[in-house]
Amino acid sequence: MSLDPITPPPYRIKVVEPIPFLSADERRQALAEAGYNPFNLRADQITIDLLSDSGTGATSAAQEAAAALGDESYAGARSWFRFRDEVRDLTGYPHILPVHQGRAGERILFGSLLKAGQICVSNTHFDTTHANVRLTGAEPRDLPCPEAADLDSRAPFKGNIDLVALDRLLSGPEGHRVGLVLMTITNNGLGAQPVSMANIEAAGRLCRRHGVPFFLDAARFAENAWLVREREPGYGHRSPRQIATRAFQLADGCVVSLKKDGLTAIGGLIALRDDALHGACEANLIATEGFSTYGGLAGHDLERLAQGLREVVDPAYLRSRAASTARLAQMINDVGVDTVQPAGIHALYLNAGRLLPHLSPREFPGHSLGCQLYLDGGIRCAELGSLYLGGMDDQNQLVTPAPFELVRLAIPRRVYTDAHFEYVATVLAGIAKAPERVRGYRILSSPPLLRHFKVRLEPLPAGPGVTSA
Ligand SMILES: Cc1ncc(COP(=O)(O)O)c(C=O)c1O
Repeated sequence: MSLDPITPPPYRIKVVEPIPFLSADERRQALAEAGYNPFNLRADQITIDLLSDSGTGATSAAQEAAAALGDESYAGARSWFRFRDEVRDLTGYPHILPVHQGRAGERILFGSLLKAGQICVSNTHFDTTHANVRLTGAEPRDLPCPEAADLDSRAPFKGNIDLVALDRLLSGPEGHRVGLVLMTITNNGLGAQPVSMANIEAAGRLCRRHGVPFFLDAARFAENAWLVREREPGYGHRSPRQIATRAFQLADGCVVSLKKDGLTAIGGLIALRDDALHGACEANLIATEGFSTYGGLAGHDLERLAQGLREVVDPAYLRSRAASTARLAQMINDVGVDTVQPAGIHALYLNAGRLLPHLSPREFPGHSLGCQLYLDGGIRCAELGSLYLGGMDDQNQLVTPAPFELVRLAIPRRVYTDAHFEYVATVLAGIAKAPERVRGYRILSSPPLLRHFKVRLEPLPAGPGVTSA
């Protein structure tokens, strides 16, 4: 990826929103009231919000102009046809179903495709994807490629699925149980790493040979296409849109959260080739989301999406976004904090386990670092470590630690400038200078599913010789 600093965004800022700067005391109180779970903070208590890149981007003047044309007819709205044609043109799939966001698409697709006892295989299931597979009674199984286990390796496609393991599973005694293979592009659960076209193609071939449906979870289809263009031999001369279209062609269908690369606050879709599966999904959609020409979205949302899907594949936009994330990674690494390598686009993953060796996984070092970023700088982010992925007993004690203790800094699209990112790096530098002052946490209460969203915690007492954070 080019680190050339002369990659300004291909837009200028026209509408701005103030951000709050709380005092250290106010932040301490806010975090305590939130049960030490950043998901429970109020947006007006946050200076830089890197919790998610989902639905948090800025829209363009052209999107807002299109929104004014939104046709809110209950059925057959003009906005629906504009959206449908744009998605058909991009993906090549004949059947398009709109949904209000990605997980609604997951629920509908999995509900129509998966049966209890089956296995859904992925390079890595995203958390809601994992939960929606489980809700059908099927088993989610991740088969990430071996390179993904080395956080420091600069292998270009650490988001790939392990083709040897996939072949072994499909050909082995459990092969008949595999009901779906779902490739997440880019791999959000594993360091925002991209998936190569060669890997998508080979996985699709294996699935066809075994008669298993092969789908994409394509929330970041444009960013994956950009990284393919930059890193995979043979793609440098193709446009991101051509590469994305090719990826869609290699699969039987896709489920997409459009809150990322749709460049909108809300939206999602299911796109398919199979007529019977489309019929089943459509019936479910109408019963639970809305009629099949709006699927829980307003006409103005469909208009913003149709325009956003064009803007997101602009090479100038993708080049500047990739370069901006890479610059942030460089600043963070320069202050002594390691990130999962190589930098992806939508997020950076801090290696909290390495930065805070005085905290064991039972003390949730990723969560501790995330809380410290808030306490020191009003920065909100998400843990991706043992709090999120670890196995707990009935007393909420960690029994199986996650493989890594990471913190995800998600980068909203078209929202923050390099000056905001310099601030983030400066706050991290302060933590990296005295990491031993960061305290661990313990769980007070936790829900059974999707723990990280609603868990409540408290800080552990400072260790010997450690001043209070
Ligand atoms: C890879 C992936 N799949 C699915 C989803 C779910 O999408 P939504 O939040 O729109 O329900 C997300 C959301 O972050 C995601 O990153």
